[in-house]
Amino acid sequence: MSIDAQILTALRSAPGGTVSGAELSQKLSISRAAIWARIEDLRSLGYEIEASPHLGYRLTSAPDVLHADDLFSRLGKIRVVGRDIRVFQETTSTNDVMEKLARDGVKEGAVAFAESQTKGRGRLGRKWMSPTGKGLWFSLLLRPDMHPQQTTQLTVATGIALRRAIEMHAGVRSDIKWPNDILLNGRKVAGILTELSAELDHIKYVIIGVGIDVNQGAGEFPIELRSVATSLKIETGKAWSRAALAVEVLRQLDYDYGRLVAGRFQGIAEEWEQHCTTLGQTVVIRIGDRRIRGRAESLSEDGALLLRSEHGHLETIMGGDVGIEKA
Ligand code: BTN
Repeated sequence: MSIDAQILTALRSAPGGTVSGAELSQKLSISRAAIWARIEDLRSLGYEIEASPHLGYRLTSAPDVLHADDLFSRLGKIRVVGRDIRVFQETTSTNDVMEKLARDGVKEGAVAFAESQTKGRGRLGRKWMSPTGKGLWFSLLLRPDMHPQQTTQLTVATGIALRRAIEMHAGVRSDIKWPNDILLNGRKVAGILTELSAELDHIKYVIIGVGIDVNQGAGEFPIELRSVATSLKIETGKAWSRAALAVEVLRQLDYDYGRLVAGRFQGIAEEWEQHCTTLGQTVVIRIGDRRIRGRAESLSEDGALLLRSEHGHLETIMGGDVGIEKA
């Protein structure tokens, strides 16, 4: 853990909220002058830290910027997800950044956030708007010991982790639309882009890209998206700390990835089925030029959608675009 992360952790966990320069200096084995210099640096990043000659330092507020040390210090104990956190001010796409890190051999669990993306992308080659400081745009690297066909399990696990994190953080219940959309009041608030590098029978690595629209106002979405996209702020009427939400999302992802690698996909699938609005509906799935119409029945063991077609066949759908058919 970096010195900044250790200072922030100590300030956050101090009994009574205050910790003396002497205690910090002893704990971190650096001089009081060095502590003071780090505190000044944190202040310049927007952390408000009071200093009292008798009591010591107290963290009174943290800025709504993403700061790797801060995220790490808030995360607490995790197994895999978030053990390496990097924050970029601007990137093309965090999935591209992570792809490069993956090829360089970075360990699974690494996460790259960007304050903004110039070429954020969504599924099926769509563009993903990533305005500065308004949402969470990040990619997670995983190296699961899995068959490529099971990749959808990771998207399903990510979906329930996001849904739970949003509920725990903002107190609102969202729904899941297969395969990867998180909806609030019927409009999309978050999406998942899973990209894979695999050999015939095993996954080399998976990059899970997540976009969550957090603090955009209604007028900040392009007109053509306003009926289908939303943000947490629009739905709840208040702005949210992106850093706190990011930490909750990473914790939930860590929990669900743990369940998945422990072979407990069944529990994940059940939770997903409880919150998925696609199931039970008559849907039209578009995969390239193909259209398949049928009733969405359940998830397969691999995480694919099982669709009962008009001809009574059970089709296994791995990807595509889902439209709900009006009754
Ligand atoms: C979708 O719903 O189509 C998926 C959207 C995924 C967007 C995220 S933002 C972070 C990561 N980087 C990207 O370029 N895309 C994903």
